[in-house]
Amino acid sequence: MKLASVILAAGQGTRMKSDLQKVLHPLMGKPLVAYAVETMRALTESQPVLLVGRGTDAVCEVVGQDAVFVEQAEQKGTGHAVLQARDTLRGQSDLVLVTYADMPLLTAETLHQLVERQQQNTGPLTMLTLVTNTPRGFGRIVRDGSGGVLKIVEEAVATPEELAIRELNAGVYCFDAQWLWSHIDQIPLSLPKKEYYLTDLIEMAVGEGARVEAVTTEDKTEVLGINTRVHLAEAERALRLRINERWMLAGVTIVDPDTTTIEPDVAIGQDTTIHPNTHLRGATAIGAHCVIGPNTIIEDCQIGDRCEVLASVLEQAVMEDDSDIGPFGHLRKGARLCQGAHMGNFGELKNSTLGAGAKMGHFSYLGDAQVGAEANIGAGTITCNFDGKQKNRTEIGEDAFIGSDTMLVAPIKVGKGAKTGAGSVVTHDVPAGAVAYGVPARVKGSTEKK
Ligand code: UD1
Ligand code: CA
Repeated sequence: MKLASVILAAGQGTRMKSDLQKVLHPLMGKPLVAYAVETMRALTESQPVLLVGRGTDAVCEVVGQDAVFVEQAEQKGTGHAVLQARDTLRGQSDLVLVTYADMPLLTAETLHQLVERQQQNTGPLTMLTLVTNTPRGFGRIVRDGSGGVLKIVEEAVATPEELAIRELNAGVYCFDAQWLWSHIDQIPLSLPKKEYYLTDLIEMAVGEGARVEAVTTEDKTEVLGINTRVHLAEAERALRLRINERWMLAGVTIVDPDTTTIEPDVAIGQDTTIHPNTHLRGATAIGAHCVIGPNTIIEDCQIGDRCEVLASVLEQAVMEDDSDIGPFGHLRKGARLCQGAHMGNFGELKNSTLGAGAKMGHFSYLGDAQVGAEANIGAGTITCNFDGKQKNRTEIGEDAFIGSDTMLVAPIKVGKGAKTGAGSVVTHDVPAGAVAYGVPARVKGSTEKK
C-alpha cells in the first residue's frame, strides 16, 4: 500500500500581520511548516507535496529537499489547491493524505489512525473530526440518523441548528487516490467566496452511496490551526506542555512545566531535575541525575551525567560528567568543562577547555585556552587572547596555580605546577614548577610638585 501526501500552505496568512511568511514563523525554534513536513515524512516514503502560493521562495529555501513544491498561483480554495497536486501525484500511490501546514501539533499517530481506518473503509475517504464545545471557525460535521457522515457545512453558511453541532472538521483527510484524482476537478464553485471547497467531496461521496469514515479526537491541540500570533502562542504553550509531559513520564523532574521550554530535538536522562525558567534549545543532550536551572538557557550543548548548571547561559559547549557551573556562568562556542571541573560565578569560557577537576571560581574569562587537570584559576584571571588582529592561545599545565587577577597575555604557556602571583601581568612563558610574580606597571606624567 503506497501513501502520498499533500500539505496546503498557499494561504496568505495575512492575519499574522508580518513581513515573514506565516508558515516560517518559529514554534519552539523551528518554522511552523517543518512540523507538518516532518510528521508526513514519518508516515510516507515519498516527499510530501507542499502547495505554496506566489512569492514563497523563502519557504522553499527553508524546507529544501524535504518536500516537492507545487505552486497555486491564485488561492481559489482548498479543493482547487489539492487539484494542483494531481499532475505530480496521480498514479503514484494508493492513498493520499491531505493536511495543512499551519497545524503543527497534529501527530503522526493520529494520521496513522486515519490511514488504518481508510484501509478498512469501502468508501473513498476518512476524515479527522474534533468534538469540542468551542467551535471557532470550523466546518460542522452533519451526520444522518444512523451516525453516518453526510456532509460538512462551512460556518459562514451554516444554519443555527448546524452551528450548534459540536463535531468539527479538522481539515485532515485520507483519500483513496484513484477516487480523489477522478473527483477533485468535479467540485462546484461555492458562493459567496467563489472558492472550490475540498469539503464538498464528502457530499459527493455520500451522493454516490459510498461511506465516509471519521476518526474523532478530543485533543483540541492536535488540530490547532495558526492564523494569528495569538494562536501561535497557544500552540507554543500546548507543545511546551506536551513535550514536558513526555519528559516527566520518562523520569525527568520538571518543577514548573509552565516556565520550562524544552525544544523538540532535546534529549534528557532519567532523574535529572529541571528548575523553573529554563530553556533547553536546539540539539542539546543532557545526561542523567543532573540539576539544571533555575534561570538557565542551554543551546546546542552536550551535558554529561550528574552535572549542575545554575542560572547560566551555555551555547555550543560540552560539560563532562560531574562538572558544574554557576551561578551566572557563560559557556560559549567551543567551551568544554572536563570531568569534575568547576566554574563558579561570573565566569566566561570561549573555545577553551577546563581540564578534569580544574577550578575557576570567580570573575574570570578564558578564551582560546587549554587548562590542565586540577589547575586552579584564581579570581579575576583573564586571558588577553586578542591582540587587535588575531586570537592567540593560552596553555596552562596541570596543577598550575594562577593567582587572583592574573593577566595572561597570549600567546603564552604556563607549565605544569607553575604559579603566578596575584595581580601579575604575564607576558612570557612560565616554565613548569616556576613562579611568576610582580606587575611591570610604571607611572608616567604627574602634576604633583616635588
Ligand atoms: C477549512 C475547512 C473547514 C475546516 C477548517 C479547519 C474547507 C472549505 N473548509 O476551512 O471545514 O473546519 O479548514 O481548519 O476546506 N489553502 C490553500 N489554498 C487555498 C485555500 C487554502 O493552500 O486556495 C490552505 C491555507 O493555507 C490553509 C488551509 O488551506 O493552510 C485551510 O484554508 P482556510 O482558508 O484557512 O480554510 P478554513 O476556512 O479554515
Ligand atoms: Ca484556517
